[in-house]
Amino acid sequence: MKIPLPLFALLALGASLSSPAHADVQAPALSDLAPAAKQGLTVTFSAGGKSDTRAGRLIALFVPAGEAPTPFLAPGPFTAKWEGEITSDLRAAFTFTVDTTGGVTATLNGQPLLDSRLHIAPQPAQLQKGANKLVVEFQSPPQGDAMVRLMWSSKDFPREPIPPTAFQHDTGAKDLRTGERLREGRLLFAQNRCSACHDASPVLPPKGEGLSELAQDAPTFDAIGDKYREPWLAAWINDSAQHPSARTHAESLRG
Ligand code: HEC
Repeated sequence: MKIPLPLFALLALGASLSSPAHADVQAPALSDLAPAAKQGLTVTFSAGGKSDTRAGRLIALFVPAGEAPTPFLAPGPFTAKWEGEITSDLRAAFTFTVDTTGGVTATLNGQPLLDSRLHIAPQPAQLQKGANKLVVEFQSPPQGDAMVRLMWSSKDFPREPIPPTAFQHDTGAKDLRTGERLREGRLLFAQNRCSACHDASPVLPPKGEGLSELAQDAPTFDAIGDKYREPWLAAWINDSAQHPSARTHAESLRG
């Protein structure tokens, strides 16, 4: 995406690019949405008193030692909680097992399904016809890689990861939509190269880490005064129907 032109004028005036801290900025509240089922699950990560929710295809995770489970949480010990429903065409029995470097507990329709710390031989569990509520909680190990993978088997097929098509979750859930909005905003911030002009160093990883878009520079404005004149720029800004992104930025400048 192109950098909005009106900024050229501001830069020519030698505008200061340092942003004041907006520590108290609150995102607007999300509206309520009717529940809607979609394939996959939600997974909520918690660490250091903060939580972050996203959608997930599988109950599977690998976080190398020293890395954060999501871009919105600090590295270190964390928990992950998958929630959703397993849908079944028939009443049938499946055996659930887990591979993990940490601790895992799970419930199916509110009943204990497995606990990786108990080392008991897995028993077949009944799935009801229709939706079966599944909750899986993972605690990462105190150190080392965090890995978890939930598997199932039945008399008809050998042990395999539970496929995404077996799961459904509610896309209207607010914690999920909050997490999706954060991810969209992060991508917009990177794609629009906001931090190429604004000093966002307190909230960004060092250059070269994080999203690769963040490493891109702003366009160069060398000799820009030879190409654009003030009246032309003023007209361009005012004709913002042609380029809505310019108006958005200009409006934020007018405050
Ligand atoms: C090409 C450089 C450039 C880029 C890229 C850029 N800005 Fe700006 N922005 C400016 C300039 C220059 C100002 C005016 C600064 C001033 O008045 O001190 C400004 C002002 C602002 C302001 C008003 C600041 C205040 O103190 O009220 C906001 C908010 C803002 N920009 C947000 C953004 C966001 C969000 C992005 C990414 C979508 C972005 N900017 C990308 C150059 C840029």
